[in-house]
Amino acid sequence: MRIVRTVAEVREALREPRGRWERIGLVPTMGAFHAGHVALMRAAREGSDVVVVSLFVNPSQFNAADDLARYPRDEVADAGAAEAEGVDVLFAPSVDELYPPGFDTWVEPGSLADVLEGAARPGHFRGVATVCAKLFAIVAADVAWFGQKDAQQAAVVRRMVADLDLPVSIEVLPTVRDPDGLALSSRNVFLTDAEREVALALPRALEAGASAHAADGDPVAAARLVLDAERGLTVDYVAVADFPPPTLVAAVRVAAIRLIDNVVLTDS
Ligand code: PAJ
Repeated sequence: MRIVRTVAEVREALREPRGRWERIGLVPTMGAFHAGHVALMRAAREGSDVVVVSLFVNPSQFNAADDLARYPRDEVADAGAAEAEGVDVLFAPSVDELYPPGFDTWVEPGSLADVLEGAARPGHFRGVATVCAKLFAIVAADVAWFGQKDAQQAAVVRRMVADLDLPVSIEVLPTVRDPDGLALSSRNVFLTDAEREVALALPRALEAGASAHAADGDPVAAARLVLDAERGLTVDYVAVADFPPPTLVAAVRVAAIRLIDNVVLTDS
């Protein structure tokens, strides 16, 4: 596996495989790898000839300085995990490499970015869309893999790719969960055991919502009922979003940790 830090090095590393018309796959990440990231890497390994993983804690998508400052970082462990998954190129640029002095152009997503996570984190999806557009341009990937865990992000990226005619296809993989149901997230490491117990109300609530929906009930009300019964947890939002497909999405706070999760609603 090659670790590269500059745009020029990525292009150089991909010149030969591109010349052979090899299929280039990209997995954009912010590091602190867990099984959710690994699932994306495996799908990319299976679905492309050359696998590029980007590892960049993108400052422009953080709207709180302390959230950015304490975002977990461990490049050595991440590089080991990526190598073990057969990743070919790990692109780990500096902030200056992607946002050099004078940087002044942004991708502004539309109404999809104003609601839910976008309302809670103003400017978040502008940062996500901009860095993803840059990564697509740098790697010129044929396909890029994203996780359903961040359903709204996947929807924003799909919309951007369609609207700007970007030559990349987007694949979205199911959310990977711990055996207790909690969706894997780099921020879970901040939860104490007791807080984790409280956090488990989130996947439980979404399951209750999905079951209610399948029985022609109100998924939001059913999920709310579970969340409101849990002390030590604050609900940011519970809603049905038609990304599509219709998805029950929720965000909660447990202590200082904000957790998001979702479940696709099916009629059965
Ligand atoms: P990050 O949080 O590192 O996530 C990288 C990718 O892993 C995203 O597509 C995310 O949806 C996916 N992912 C995270 N947890 C997952 C889980 N439990 N199951 C399945 N997939 C999961 O999302 C970002 O980084 C950034 O916003 C990025 C797209 C890299 C732009 O900076």
